[in-house]
Amino acid sequence: MNPTNSNMHKVGILTGGGDCPGLNPVIRAATRRCMGGGWDVVGIKNGWAGLVHEDTVSLTLEAVSGILPRGGTILGTSRTNPFQRPEDAQRVQATIRSLGLDALIAIGGEDTLGVAVKLIKQGVNVVGVPKTIDNDLSNTDYTFGFDTAVNIAMEAIDRLHTTAESHHRIMVIEVMGRHAGWIATCAGIAGGADVILIPEEPIDLDDVCEIIKKRHARGKGFSIVVAAEGAQLKDGTAVAKEEKLDAFGHVRLGGIGHLLGSRIEEQTGFETRVTVLGHIQRGGSPTAFDRILGTRFGIKAAELVVAGQFGRMVSLQGNKIVAVPLDEGAIAMKTVDPELYELSKIFSG
Ligand code: F6P
Repeated sequence: MNPTNSNMHKVGILTGGGDCPGLNPVIRAATRRCMGGGWDVVGIKNGWAGLVHEDTVSLTLEAVSGILPRGGTILGTSRTNPFQRPEDAQRVQATIRSLGLDALIAIGGEDTLGVAVKLIKQGVNVVGVPKTIDNDLSNTDYTFGFDTAVNIAMEAIDRLHTTAESHHRIMVIEVMGRHAGWIATCAGIAGGADVILIPEEPIDLDDVCEIIKKRHARGKGFSIVVAAEGAQLKDGTAVAKEEKLDAFGHVRLGGIGHLLGSRIEEQTGFETRVTVLGHIQRGGSPTAFDRILGTRFGIKAAELVVAGQFGRMVSLQGNKIVAVPLDEGAIAMKTVDPELYELSKIFSG
């Protein structure tokens, strides 16, 4: 890569890991601002796979026109880890050279940005944009996609309330959240859930059933239980959809909702139904908050590129978009604020 900013003119943009609403606003904003700064913009398709296989698309004003409200990513995404095989890591470097890329904007979560950190150490000019609907990256107050997911989950909880009340049932809703229960906590508070279960706190089934029974005893014939997919029972029962690991070593989660549903029904005697919200949380149009955050992140990332300030990640701190070092610390885990989780318990029972 060119060592001086004055000679630089070509930047690649990629989106890696799970998609989420707000990716297209980042791509649009970064492309427009980079172009405004005199840079050519290349879209790398399907995350790091696009650099392994040299699969690209030109990002022009026309290409990014109309994508602001669109969910997903026009670039495609994948969970490719180019450091799994040395030949893939070499191909990434070769593609960067053959495309003449002077810089990269990598939009992704812990895994995608983890690859970016390794590339920075190899001398690649990277700017990172944090992305995850799970909102579990420590060096930014929020990531885009999270607000949309919380609103979808909240609406689902609202809808479950009316049917739960009519049928006098327990409704368990499983939402996303692999390592941290931000979606469960925030959607649960916003939707008035009776029990919120998150990966940070092992589930005590007796406590959960006690809350439900107490509600029944005071005349509330229904209850709503929100569980993050990564939540686990105190007795250590592990739940995973598949034992197979992805390229970054993660199991495919899913199943805690159904496990809880049958155990709660068994233990309380109350009829229980389970809803697994799944990828509905990741699909569709971003909220205004996510469109604005994505736009601000994209503009800031482009400004860092144009200014030749690499090895940084854009971040929301308070109401300001700032740049922080893109290193292991930037992608460390941010678990749910215990104060917020405690607050939610005031409404249990
Ligand atoms: O990391 C975001 C996330 O949505 C997690 O909450 C979830 O476990 C995972 O992605 C599911 O990803 P996929 O089904 O795309 O492999």
